[in-house]
Amino acid sequence: MAEDYHIPVLLHQSVDALNIVAGGIYVDATFGGGGHAREILKRISGDGMLYGFDQDLEAYEHFLMECESGDGFGRAFQFVRSNFRFITNFLKYYGVTAVDGILADLGVSSRHFDSQERGFSFRYDAPLDMRMNSAGGQTAADVLNSYDERRLADIFYLYGEMKNNRRVAEAIVKRRNLEPFQTVGQLTEVLTPFCKQQRAKKDMAKAFQALRIEVNHEMEALKELLNSSVSLLKQGGRLVVITYHSLEDRLVKNMMRTGNCEGREEKDFYGNTLSPFLLVNRKVVTPDEEEMEKNPRSRSAKLRVAERL
Ligand SMILES: C[S@@+](CC[C@H](N)C(=O)[O-])C[C@H]1O[C@@H](n2cnc3c(N)ncnc32)[C@H](O)[C@@H]1O
Repeated sequence: MAEDYHIPVLLHQSVDALNIVAGGIYVDATFGGGGHAREILKRISGDGMLYGFDQDLEAYEHFLMECESGDGFGRAFQFVRSNFRFITNFLKYYGVTAVDGILADLGVSSRHFDSQERGFSFRYDAPLDMRMNSAGGQTAADVLNSYDERRLADIFYLYGEMKNNRRVAEAIVKRRNLEPFQTVGQLTEVLTPFCKQQRAKKDMAKAFQALRIEVNHEMEALKELLNSSVSLLKQGGRLVVITYHSLEDRLVKNMMRTGNCEGREEKDFYGNTLSPFLLVNRKVVTPDEEEMEKNPRSRSAKLRVAERL
C-alpha cells in the first residue's frame, strides 16, 4: 500500500485546494507512493484525467507493483516517468495543452530517506549517490570530489543555510586530497566535528539536504515547473505546492505573488501588484499537531495555493 512507501502530507488540505471539477485534467508532479494521486482519483469524474510524474525508477516500480497486485490506479491515470521540469512537453505528447490543476509535493519521499543503499540518509553507510533519477547525472560523490572549494561552500550556504560552510568545504577538500569520497561514512566523519552536540542530527541533515538539492538540481527544476504552470493552467485552474524548506517556499511564494520566481513586482496604474495568480490562502497552511505527531516528516511542510487568473 502507498502508506508503506510514503505517508502523504497535508493530504486532504492539498487535494481540497485543487478544487477538482468534473471532467478536469490534473497533474500530480511528484507521484512518489501515489498517496495524493489516489485521493485525486477518488474525486475525478467524467472524462477527467490525472497525469502523475516521477523521475524515480523505484516510484515507477512501486506503481507497477500496485497495478499488478490489482490495486491499480485505473484508466483515468497516466504515469509519466520524467522530471517535472519537462511537464509541458510530456503533456503535449499526450495531447494536453491546458490543465485544471497542478499539485507538487516537493523533495524526496520517505522511501528515499529509508533506503539503505541510495545515500540520502546519514543513518546508513551507503555509496554517496543521492540521485532521484539514477539513470544519469552526477552523484553526491562526484560533487564532493570535483567542485572547487568555493562552489562547495556556496552550496552548503545556499541550500543548507550553514554558517560554517567555508570551514566545512575546506575540510572536504583536505579529505578528498587524501582519498576521494565514496561512502556516506566518509562524509559523516568529516562533518561530525562541525555538528554541535545538542543538535548534531539537524546539522548533519542540513549538509545532506544541501548536497541532495545540488545533485538533483532541485531549484532549477522547481523554477521550470513554476514557470510552466503559468502557461499550462486554465483560467480558474489551481497551483497547489507543498514545500519543506525555506528556499523552495520562497520560489513558490514569489511565483504566486508576482508571476516570477524572483519576486519582481510589476504594478498597475493604482500601484497594485500584477500577477497571473490570485492567492487562495494568504497564510500558508501547515499540518496540525496530530499530523506532526503521526508523521514527523510533515513538521516542516508548508502548503501554498494559487488560482490562475
Ligand atoms: C515528497 S515525495 C511525494 C509523495 C507523494 N505525494 C505521495 O503521496 O506518496 C516527492 C516525490 O517526487 C519525486 N520528485 C522530486 N523532484 C522531482 C522532479 N523534479 N521531477 C519528477 N519527480 C520528482 C521524488 O522522486 C519523490 O518520489
